Amino acid sequence: MKVSGFATTHQQLASWFAGALLGVAVAALHETGGVSAGGTLGRAIDASFCKHGASTKLCKVVGPSGSSGVQFTTIQSAVESLDDATPATLVVLAGTYHEQVNVTRTGPLYLYGETRDRTDPASNLVQVTWSAHAQGDSNLTDNVYTSVLTVAPNLNASLTGSGPTGYPVLADNPFGCRDFRAHNLDFLNTVAETAVGPALTLNTGYANASFYQCGFYSYQDTIYVGKLSNAYFRDCIVAGETDFLYGFGTAWFERSVLQLRSCGGGVTAWKGTNTTFTNAYGVYVHQSRVERANSSLAIEDKCALGRPWNSLHRSVFADTYLDDSILPAGYIKWSTSDPRYSDELTTMAEYRTYGPGFNETARVAGGIDKLLTDEEYLPYSSPSRVFKFPFSDVEGNTAWIEEDW
Ligand SMILES: *[C@@H]1O[C@H](CO)[C@@H](O)[C@H](O)[C@H]1NC(C)=O
Ligand SMILES: *[C@@H]1O[C@H](CO)[C@@H](O)[C@H](O)[C@H]1NC(C)=O
Ligand SMILES: *[C@@H]1O[C@H](CO)[C@@H](O)[C@H](O)[C@H]1NC(C)=O
Ligand SMILES: *[C@@H]1O[C@H](CO)[C@@H](O)[C@H](O)[C@H]1NC(C)=O
Ligand SMILES: *[C@@H]1O[C@H](CO)[C@@H](O)[C@H](O)[C@H]1NC(C)=O
Ligand SMILES: *[C@@H]1O[C@H](CO)[C@@H](O)[C@H](O)[C@H]1NC(C)=O
Ligand SMILES: *[C@@H]1O[C@H](CO)[C@@H](O)[C@H](O)[C@H]1NC(C)=O
Repeated sequence: MKVSGFATTHQQLASWFAGALLGVAVAALHETGGVSAGGTLGRAIDASFCKHGASTKLCKVVGPSGSSGVQFTTIQSAVESLDDATPATLVVLAGTYHEQVNVTRTGPLYLYGETRDRTDPASNLVQVTWSAHAQGDSNLTDNVYTSVLTVAPNLNASLTGSGPTGYPVLADNPFGCRDFRAHNLDFLNTVAETAVGPALTLNTGYANASFYQCGFYSYQDTIYVGKLSNAYFRDCIVAGETDFLYGFGTAWFERSVLQLRSCGGGVTAWKGTNTTFTNAYGVYVHQSRVERANSSLAIEDKCALGRPWNSLHRSVFADTYLDDSILPAGYIKWSTSDPRYSDELTTMAEYRTYGPGFNETARVAGGIDKLLTDEEYLPYSSPSRVFKFPFSDVEGNTAWIEEDW
C-alpha cells in the first residue's frame, strides 16, 4: 500500500527495522527448522511459505484464481473450510480481495500476506477491502456490519451497542479465537475519503488478536476492540480522522504509526467498564508515532489525542512521538454539552511523549490530560501488565503475542 507523503514515516520505520533485520533472519531460520527459504530468507513471504515457513501443519493458500498452488480465491472461503480447533495458517497471495472476513473459530489462525519485505508495512501486497459505513443506512444497525475483518465467536459478541456497557452479551457467551495473528495484510474501508460515519476495518470481541506489519485505512472508527477482547499491534500503520481507535477492551500499539488524515473527535475514544476487580481495559500506544498522513494536510495544533466515550475512558500514549498536528491541550472532553469527563475516573494520559505536538504548559493549563509519573505509569507499562486473565486482575495474559524479533 503506497501512501503519499510516507517518506518520513518510512525512514523512521526503516531505522527501527534496521536493527531488527538480523533478528528476522534468525527467526525465519527458527520457523523453517533451519531449511533455507532461498536468497530472500526472512524478508519475503510467498506460496512456498506453506512448505517452508508455516508453524502449523495445516496450511492453505488463498490467491487469484489460476495462480499456481491456489486453493481458495477468497479469505473467507478458506476460513470457512477450517474446523473449529485445529491450528491453521493461511497464506494470502498478492492482490486485492473485496470481501468481509469473519473469524469465529476458537483455534489458532495465522494469516500471512505475500510480500517481498515482511519488515515493511508500506510494502504490503495484499489489500482486503470493504466499503460500508453505519450512518444513514438503515440496514447497518451496528458498526460491526461495516467492518472489513471481524474476529468474534458470534454476532452478539461482535456488536457495539450503546449505553455504558454496550450490547448486552449473555454471561455464558463463549470466548472466540484464542490466538489470531495477521502479518503483512492491509485492511481498507473505502466507503469515503472523509469521516462520514463508523467505517471499521477491524472489529474484535471475545478474542485475542495480534497484528504485525499490517495496515488499517479508514477515516472513522478504523479499529474497534470490543468487550473481553485483547488486541496487540506491532509495526503497523493505522490511518484515520475521527475516533479511530475505539472500544471497550484492551489494545496495545507498539512501534506503529498512527496517521492523521484530518482531525475529528480524538485519536482514541475508549469506554471503560466498572468491574469488581481492577481492570486495565484501555488503549496503550507505546514507542510509536502520531503524525499527519501527508504534508499537504493543514492541521497544525488541531488534532486531539482522545476523548472519553464514557467517563471510564483509559488511554496512555507513552514514549511516543507527536507531530505538530496535536492540539496543545492534548485531550478533549466528549462535547461541550456532554463532557463525559471526571477527574477521578477518566484516564486520558501521557508518559514521556515528545516532539512538536507535546506542549507541557498547554497540557497542564487544559486540566484534563494526565502527565503520569513513573509510579503512575507502572501499571500500564507493558503488555503483560495490561493484558489480564479474564475476570481477574491477574497479569500476564500474553501467550498469544508473537515474540519480537
Ligand atoms: C437495505 O436492504 C434492502 C434489501 O436488501 C435494500 O433493498 C435497501 O436498498 C437497503 N437500504 C439501504 C439504505 O441501502
Ligand atoms: C460477517 O459478519 C457481518 C456482521 O455480522 C455480516 O454482516 C456479514 O454478512 C458476515 N459476512 C460473512 C461472509 O459471513
Ligand atoms: C444475543 O443477545 C440477545 C439479547 O441479549 C439474546 O436474546 C440472544 O439469545 C443472544 N443470542 C445468542 C446466540 O447468544
Ligand atoms: C493527504 O491525505 C488526505 C487525507 O487522506 C487526502 O485526502 C489527500 O489527497 C492527501 N494529499 C496528498 C497530496 O496525498
Ligand atoms: C462507575 O463507577 C463509578 C464509581 O462507582 C461511578 O461514579 C460511575 O458513574 C460508573 N461509571 C459507569 C460508566 O457506569
Ligand atoms: C505552548 O502552549 C502555551 C499555552 O497555550 C503557549 O503560550 C505556547 O506558545 C505554546 N508553545 C509552543 C512552543 O507552541
Ligand atoms: C486469550 O485470552 C483469553 C481470555 O483473556 C485467555 O484465557 C487465553 O489464555 C488467551 N489465549 C492464549 C493462547 O493465550
